[in-house]
Amino acid sequence: MKAELLYEGKAKKVYRKEGTMDQLVLAYKNDATAFNGKKKASFSGKGRLNNAISAQIFPYLLENGVETHFIEKINETEQLVWQTEIIPLEVVVRNLAAGSITKRLAIEVKTPFDPPVLELFYKDDALNDPLINDQHAFVLCNVTEAELEEIKKTALKVNRVLSELFQSINLKLVDFKLEFGRLASGCIVLADEISPDTCRLWDLDTEEKMDKDVFREDIGDLLGVYNEILRRLEDRS
Ligand code: TMP
Repeated sequence: MKAELLYEGKAKKVYRKEGTMDQLVLAYKNDATAFNGKKKASFSGKGRLNNAISAQIFPYLLENGVETHFIEKINETEQLVWQTEIIPLEVVVRNLAAGSITKRLAIEVKTPFDPPVLELFYKDDALNDPLINDQHAFVLCNVTEAELEEIKKTALKVNRVLSELFQSINLKLVDFKLEFGRLASGCIVLADEISPDTCRLWDLDTEEKMDKDVFREDIGDLLGVYNEILRRLEDRS
């Protein structure tokens, strides 16, 4: 099904789908990286788990009115998506203070944000993905004012939809990162992945961290918690 390798990122490989001009195969890798690639490891089975978790979440978003690049899961570690030109923007939404914001702005961990805090980062490894504002995004990311407004509106909608989904499986959606891509038609849709690599998820009862912070902070069994997230998603009624 795969034709040529177009791109290899830290967590996925991107192939063109054989015989098509507008569909891609995303192959999830077992690699985990943190701190802009400075910390690296491989977890046998992580690719399968993130593929399966993303393949639960994207259709759920579509059912709730969010357009995404996702077409279908095609095997254990791969999914088919519409080709997009990725907008070099990481859109982060935060419901509780954790991670970089607690250090950058000296905000106490677990401080609730209502309304949620939305931050834009310029996706550029060489610059260490700096925090940027809207005007920077117009210059650097080839988006118009109206498109950026739409991206932010969608990110906040994703937050509402996924906060409810995760609440239903006893998890707090603490924060997450989204990426958007432009289809050949010019329309912008949600792209990349949504998984415990790109979200912070805390158990509602125990506050146990059930996401990539387990690897970032060396505090437990990454495959065990990713498995548990998938089990809860699959078992939800
Ligand atoms: P941060 O607190 O490190 O800024 O991360 C905010 C959220 O974004 C968190 O859920 C993890 C996610 N994230 C990514 O998906 N990729 C990244 O490269 C970074 C830095 C964060």
